[in-house]
Amino acid sequence: IRDDAETASSHVANYIIDRIRHFNPTPSHPFVLGLPTGSSPLGVYRILVEKYKAGLISFENVVTFNMDEYVGIPRDHPESYHSFMWKHFFSHVNVNPNNVHILNGNAPNLEAECVEYENKIKRSGGIDLFLGGIGEDGHIAFNEPGSSLASRTRVKTLAYDTILANSRFFENDVKKVPKMALTVGVQTVLEAREVVIIILGARKSLALQKCIEQGVNHMWTLSSLQLHPHPMIVCDEDATLEL
Ligand code: GLP
Repeated sequence: IRDDAETASSHVANYIIDRIRHFNPTPSHPFVLGLPTGSSPLGVYRILVEKYKAGLISFENVVTFNMDEYVGIPRDHPESYHSFMWKHFFSHVNVNPNNVHILNGNAPNLEAECVEYENKIKRSGGIDLFLGGIGEDGHIAFNEPGSSLASRTRVKTLAYDTILANSRFFENDVKKVPKMALTVGVQTVLEAREVVIIILGARKSLALQKCIEQGVNHMWTLSSLQLHPHPMIVCDEDATLEL
């Protein structure tokens, strides 16, 4: 628990930098980083970019896999997760574009796209550290309430609450929010060697309480992290309101 969003973000950014620095990458096993979108990780991305510009970290040997992507909006739509990632992170650091993986929500065969994504993760050696945020309903990636805890990358219909929450990025018009997404599964996240979740603000406090103080439950999919051998939740004071 950190005092505020800035110190929580800084803790996460420094933790990731430390992990990358102490990793000995080989061509067959680079550092594999899972990444989220949303407002919660923005501070982390900003600090990672600052540290890169200060020469304190290189992303040259880092391979990334994003958690999710909307279905049915163009890749260059300002609110696609592809645009988000390039705008806030990839364009500002020395990541090799060939090492960046983001699900294609416009693939002609969405199911095949999801299977291939899981294969790519496996071929890269598996995810070393998965960074994530959560929705107000405790979802991780787009694993909405009721998702199987054994789920893998797949097409998911978004919960109405998520569509409503994300309408702030679509001119507050729920009709403009995509209704489906591609997302890594709960099991895909749990298979990462380490999972770090950043949770900021009072609006996430009920989800945080349900996910860590109650039992493992597919209605609050982050609660599955209780089964992980190496998890870390970093939150600000506001998010602890219900603990
Ligand atoms: C979306 C993403 C999640 C993210 C959530 C929270 O639903 N699919 O991965 O955790 O938004 O976003 P925010 O951090 O803006 O509250």
